[in-house]
Amino acid sequence: MRFLVRCVVSLWQARPDVWMAGYARKTFHRLRVHGFVHTAVLISAGVRNATAWLAERWFDLIWGIDTAGRELLYRADGPPESNPLYLDYQPTPVRTMRALLSQLDADVSSSTFVDFGSGKGRVLLIASEFDFTRVIGVEFDAKLHRTASENIRAFRGRRKCQDVTSICGRAEEFTVPPGNLVLYFFHPFEAQIMARILDNVVRSYRENPRRILLLLFRPSHAALVERFPEFRRLPAKPLPYDVVRLSSDYRDRSGAPYDAALFIAG
Ligand SMILES: C[S@@+](CC[C@H](N)C(=O)[O-])C[C@H]1O[C@@H](n2cnc3c(N)ncnc32)[C@H](O)[C@@H]1O
Repeated sequence: MRFLVRCVVSLWQARPDVWMAGYARKTFHRLRVHGFVHTAVLISAGVRNATAWLAERWFDLIWGIDTAGRELLYRADGPPESNPLYLDYQPTPVRTMRALLSQLDADVSSSTFVDFGSGKGRVLLIASEFDFTRVIGVEFDAKLHRTASENIRAFRGRRKCQDVTSICGRAEEFTVPPGNLVLYFFHPFEAQIMARILDNVVRSYRENPRRILLLLFRPSHAALVERFPEFRRLPAKPLPYDVVRLSSDYRDRSGAPYDAALFIAG
C-alpha cells in the first residue's frame, strides 16, 4: 500500500498533466507544420525518453530512495570553490551497474569496492547486492553525500554486504584501502584528477601488490590507465539493452552509447 502511495505521489510530483498537455499541443502543431512522418518519428523518440525516464525512477520508487536525475555541482549551498575539473552528478543506470559487476569473473568476496565520485550512492546500493567485504563511496559534494547516507539507511533491498559507507571528501585525497579492490569510475572528473588518483592507486599497488580491478563506465580516461604496465585490459562484455541505449543522456558527442572498460593489476 505504502509502495502504491509512493508511486502515485512521485508520478504526480512529475506533473504528468502539465507535460501531457504541453506534449499534445506540440504534437498538433508538428502535425500541421511538418506532416505525419516527421511527427511519428518525434513521437517514437518521446516514447523512448519516457520509457528511459520511468526505468531510471523505478529503483527509487521501489525502495523509497532518491538516486535518479542529474544534479549540477556548485549550487549556492555547495562547496565555495568552483572547479571545472569536477563533473556533475549523473547516476549509472541500475541495469548497467548490475551487468558491470556481474561480469567480474574474479571472486570479489575478499575485495573492497570503491566508487570514486559516488553522488547519491546508487552504485553503492547495487554493489551491496554483491559479496564485497566493504563498499565505500567518496563524494565531495556535501548535499549529495547527505542524500547518499540517507539512501543507505533507507535501502531495504537484498544485501550481501552490510558494510556500506559514503565518505564526504575529494577522491584525489582518498587513501587507497589495503586488500583486494574493485575501483569504479563513472566519468567523475577530468584527466588531471584521474591521473592523480591513478598515481595513488599504482603507488599503493607497488607498496603492496594485490588484485586491483579498475572498472570504468564511459571510459574517456582509459588511455591514462594504459600508461601503467601494472594494469592490463580485460575484454569487457557487451552491456545490456537498457536506458543507456534509450536515452540521449548516456551518449557521447558522436551519439554512441557509453560503454565500459575493465583493467586488472595483480
Ligand atoms: C557522473 S557522477 C557519478 C555518480 C555515481 N558514481 C554513479 O555512477 O551513479 C560523478 C560524481 O562525482 C562527483 N565528483 C566530481 N569530482 C569529485 C572529486 N574530486 N571528489 C569526489 N567526488 C567528485 C560529482 O559530485 C558527482 O556526484
